[in-house]
This record gives sequence, structure tokens and C-alpha cells, in this order.
Amino acid sequence: NPSVGLVGWRGMVGSVLMQRMQDENDFANINPVFFSTSNAGGAAPSFADGAGKLEDAFDIETLAKLPIIVTAQGGDYTKQVHGELRNRGWDGLWIDAASTLRMNDDSIIVLDPINRDVIDAGLSGGVKDFIGGNCTVSCMLMGLGGLFKNNLVEWGTSMTYQAASGGGARHMRELLNQFGTLNNEVSSELDDPASAILEIDHKVLAAQRTGVDATQFGVPLAGSLIPWIDADLGNGQSKEEWKAGVETNKILGTGNGTAGKDHIAMDGLCIRIGAMRSHSQALTLKLREDLSVTEIENLLAKDNEWAKVVPNTKEASMADLTPVAASGTLDIPVGRIRKLEMGPEYISAFTVGDQLLWGAAEPLRRMLNIVTG
Ligand code: HSE
Repeated sequence: NPSVGLVGWRGMVGSVLMQRMQDENDFANINPVFFSTSNAGGAAPSFADGAGKLEDAFDIETLAKLPIIVTAQGGDYTKQVHGELRNRGWDGLWIDAASTLRMNDDSIIVLDPINRDVIDAGLSGGVKDFIGGNCTVSCMLMGLGGLFKNNLVEWGTSMTYQAASGGGARHMRELLNQFGTLNNEVSSELDDPASAILEIDHKVLAAQRTGVDATQFGVPLAGSLIPWIDADLGNGQSKEEWKAGVETNKILGTGNGTAGKDHIAMDGLCIRIGAMRSHSQALTLKLREDLSVTEIENLLAKDNEWAKVVPNTKEASMADLTPVAASGTLDIPVGRIRKLEMGPEYISAFTVGDQLLWGAAEPLRRMLNIVTG
């Protein structure tokens, strides 16, 4: 079995990754070497037999002995270590959840149910850096793969409803603390059915404006939303919004100049809402053909085993097309598919996906399995 260095296995994405690797028995195919940025010499986790002690995640010599490194440690770690490893001639496979290397010409964004052809071509062409995609982009492509892979999308807008987990574990805690603060503020009024709702609303608003801890998000999220995610690129677009276009085309291999494949224009607004760990997005797609809704649903359902078409009814949408329904599962529900007023080639769609599973951990463990399984 190949030795595989595991870095950042204790964080939120790393923990989900470790759980999925245990669930799927991935450790049977590898000899894991666990690294730590803070606790080198400590005991390696017990879920992988014979893993020994934790190695120092900044020890380039030790890292360089490994044929494969998988990291969910984050972008700062990648910046610090990856270049140094490559500069000293390390030519192992680097499998990474962080965005740092994603748009490099010599990296591939991994989402194998969608781009196994791109991954295989990269592997035979000597590509060594395999990077997980942006969570929103990966979840969108898993849900709508049947249209994107068949070159049926001319352009699309994705308007997102992104969960707190995209910011990190501390952001999830902050959201819950905000909900708690707001509830405490008006709990006696809530207990009294005769209390005035406008009074409650007034107190909640006052607490949102002055009383809740918003250290992580910067502004209150509970009972509100934040219409900007990630850096300001200075052209009116956020970095999260930029990723939708560039990463979609890189994953599909439809970047500018790719022979025989049309570039797909994707753009929209990215919004943070008070969901926990599933990102949702409302899409408008301009198709290249006038397909019936049934044809579209069939294409989506048969593209991959995780895309779950939800019939466009009120009952099914409310039950099955929500963050509460999707979280903790690998299912990518996709629904609200209908023809829009603008014309027969314009459709709406809504899709939801667990941001920590298909949005982060799952593509990494599947990439590892492609090379070790
Ligand atoms: N950038 C995403 C978010 C998470 O903030 O929701 C990582 O892909």
C-alpha cells in the first residue's frame, strides 16, 4: 500500500474526510502517515491501525518521502509548504481542499463524477496537483451534471444561499449563539401568546444591531443575510462569484481555447444565509436546445447516482429540496425545474448540497481512491 500523508485531518473538513474514509474503508488501501502543525510526536488517531505518532507538518524532509499528500489544513499551509516541496524536486501527488492552487495551469480541479476524463488525461499527462473545487461550484455541477456535461448550457446565473459552515466551524457556532441571544432577548414575550409581535420584532432588531456577537461574520447573520462572500475583486464582483465561472469551465474542460468545447458563461450573486452546512443555489440556465422538462429531468437523474430530481411540486420541494433534507447525506437534490417566461430555452432550477461532503471532503477521498484503490 502507498504511504499517504494526511494533514489537517482534525479540522472540520478534515474530520468529515476522515469519517468518510472510515465509512468507505479507504484506509485498507493506504498506509496513512498523520501530520500535525501543533502536536508533532503526539499519538496518531486510533481509527487507522498502526499509524504511530504524529509527524511535523512543516518538516519538508519527512513530507518529501511520501508519494501522496492529502491536505485539508487550509490555504495558508498550502502556500507555506507546497512550493517548498516542489522546489526541492518532490514529484508526489498533492491532493488539497484549499483554493490556493486551484486555478494554476498545472493543477486539476477534482470532481470525478463530472470530470473523470479531465482527471485521467491529467494523470497520464503528468499532472501532480489535484485540488478540490469551490463547494458551491461542485454541488451545482453534481446536481446539474446532466446538462453541463452534455454541452447543453449556453450560460447560467447562480444565485446562492450559502451556509455558515462555508466560513468555518467558528462561524457555525457564532450563528447558533446569535439565534440564542435573539431568543433570550424576547423569550418571556414569546411565552405570552398575547404579547405584541411588533414589540418582539423591535427588541430583536435592537439586539441584532447592538447586542449579538458578530466577530466571525462581521455583521449579524441570524435573522438576516449577508450579500457578499469572500474578497472584493474591485470590479463589483466577489471572489466567490468569480469562482463560479472560472471553476465551472476548468472542471468541465471548457476553458477558453479548449478544442471542440464551448465556454460556458456562469455568473451570479453569492449570499450567506443562516443555514448550517448545506449550500443552496437558484439557477437560471439558457440552454442550447429547447428540451422538455421531462427530458431535462431524465438527463439530470441519469447523470450520476447522487443527483436526485425533486418533482416541481410544493410538497416535494418543501420536503426534499432544503438544507435540512440534504445535510449529512451525499444526495444532491435538484428541483424547481420549469420553463421560464423568457422563452423555451430558459429554465429555472434549484439545487442543494452538503458543503462539507460533495463541497469539500468527498471529491478528495475519491481522487485518492482513483490513484490507490
Ligand atoms: N467559500 C465557500 C463559502 C466555502 O464561504 O461558503 C469553501 O468553498
